[in-house]
Amino acid sequence: MSTTKRRVAWKRSFAPALSRFVFIWTWPPSTIPAPRSFPKKISGTRASSKRFAAPDLSTNSTRNRRSKVSYYTSLRDYIKTLESREKLFRIQREVCRETELEPLVRWQFRGLPESERRAFLFEKVASVTGRQYNMSVLSGACASSRAIYALGMGCREEEIFDRWINAQKHPIDPVVVPMGPVQEIDIDSHHDDAVDSIPVPLANPGFDSSLRLTAALWVTADPETGQRNVGIYSGYIRKGGRISVGLGAGKDSRIHLDKAREKGAPLKAAVVIGPTPNLIYAAASTFPYGVDEYAVAGAIAGKPLELVRCRTADLYVPAQAEMILEGEVSLDEMDHNWPFGEFSGYMAGRGKYPRFIVKHITQRKNPILLDLVAAHPPCEGSKLKQISTEAIFYHGLKENIGMSGVKQVAIHEESGGWGFFVIQLKARQPAHAWQALNSAASLTPGLGKIFIVVDEDIDPHDLDAVMWALVFRVQPHRDIQTVTGRRPMMDPSAVSPAQPGWHHHYPEPHGSSALLINALRKWNYPPVALPAKEYMERARQLWQELELPPLKPKSPWHGYELGHWPEELRNAAAAVAAWREPEEGGKKES
Ligand SMILES: Cc1cc2nc3c(=O)[nH]c(=O)nc-3n(C[C@H](O)[C@H](O)[C@H](O)COP(=O)(O)O)c2cc1C
Repeated sequence: MSTTKRRVAWKRSFAPALSRFVFIWTWPPSTIPAPRSFPKKISGTRASSKRFAAPDLSTNSTRNRRSKVSYYTSLRDYIKTLESREKLFRIQREVCRETELEPLVRWQFRGLPESERRAFLFEKVASVTGRQYNMSVLSGACASSRAIYALGMGCREEEIFDRWINAQKHPIDPVVVPMGPVQEIDIDSHHDDAVDSIPVPLANPGFDSSLRLTAALWVTADPETGQRNVGIYSGYIRKGGRISVGLGAGKDSRIHLDKAREKGAPLKAAVVIGPTPNLIYAAASTFPYGVDEYAVAGAIAGKPLELVRCRTADLYVPAQAEMILEGEVSLDEMDHNWPFGEFSGYMAGRGKYPRFIVKHITQRKNPILLDLVAAHPPCEGSKLKQISTEAIFYHGLKENIGMSGVKQVAIHEESGGWGFFVIQLKARQPAHAWQALNSAASLTPGLGKIFIVVDEDIDPHDLDAVMWALVFRVQPHRDIQTVTGRRPMMDPSAVSPAQPGWHHHYPEPHGSSALLINALRKWNYPPVALPAKEYMERARQLWQELELPPLKPKSPWHGYELGHWPEELRNAAAAVAAWREPEEGGKKES
């Protein structure tokens, strides 16, 4: 690094002033074409100087609370909140990035209840070679638990869903600022050394043979329309600072790359390292093509994201991030990749990925590497996918398909956050069940292996309740269908891992398949066989008086009628509860 020319572009004395005032650049400058979705209106907003105080949990109104607090100004600001909420382990002893770092964090997913999981800040990272890194590594900070995810959203756990719905309905366009801390230092040569200096951890030592940048946000623009995309795609780092990008088929930036190939010009890209968590949440989410993740992230934060222009491309990156790698995705140079752990919980196979050629790097002083714990569920990857996909599918079914009867969409994290969907539905007519199932399966061709619709009395998030519905509200010959033509997502049941590149194959001629299950009651049922509500409520009072252990009620916690319960049987039950003989008579029913 001694020969690396570093230019301090950010006057230290100016930095504190900038964090208080945001200068809005005139946009678009006449020489730079504006991406289509880019700020529609630039108002002279000032960034709030208020730090994000941990949400005031005493008030019930999201709107009121949001007007009182402002979102994190940077990843560093967020770390302070994690620490003050006792959601951070600060690790000061030296930890090896190849053999110790990820296995240590992984233990909390394999050995602690979710409520006890925390983020880890590794302050002294070394390599097996003995090399010491200047960067610290923050892992598990975005989605180790629902509680941490809520902190990252700047809200309470029960507000996460509403915030996601609001973010889809009311995105907030970003604003461009003239400079930001992420451009404090410029590295304009010896990029390989600079990339080598990033302490990217090895996720699954013993099986992974690729170091993987997991929390890398790839910013690209559609070569035809200028439409921006920001997506999390793994960056595979090889010795000598080589990076390749795992752009999956159908992903938005892959569409940009394919269009760039057609035009014969390399695809400019910027890799963002260390943004605030709202951007991680937006970039890991599968929105319809054309949605600007920066605007969604702005809506999560309740204020526009501040962007700076890259040094070498007409791409815009978060001003407050930790580091930016600017460069080009090569059209012809592909790197052979070694296997790595995938969201299915299994190792993926070997593959070929396009090479990313770094042209310029900007960064803060002492940047922090943000890492996401991915692969075997539960992990941050499965939580990220689960939470936003629930909200995106709910929004898609209600707003795009117009299914007003959809009450909830639940995805179970064990399916990698993308595989097992349960839709709670109030069907107005029998065909609604199949409309919901077919529509959900068609929203994204690779997402979802099993789709189930359940009635309103089934908690879709509770697998015990779902299982009960599957067994007693379903006749397989009548209520189950399979649909084909789907894209298998790294699914070893679809293509044999003995085939080279199996994890990207579309098995001809029918692709992979998904299961659609209509678990709605097809007619009236007898009551649920639990004590009626009034008896359970009285018993709960008694429970408390007896000072028995605290209860966490699980639905259903009382019996209720489901349409088939003749008056005679209702009366008989009431009579026996009052120690009277039930009266015989009227129509006999069982
Ligand atoms: C930790 C992590 C790593 C990911 N790696 C990849 C990857 O290498 N390739 C890919 O296509 N998607 C990857 N994804 C999934 C994408 O982030 C997700 O599909 C997102 O919707 C992509 O953005 P897009 O919809 O704008 O294409 C990853 C997600 C997470 C959370």
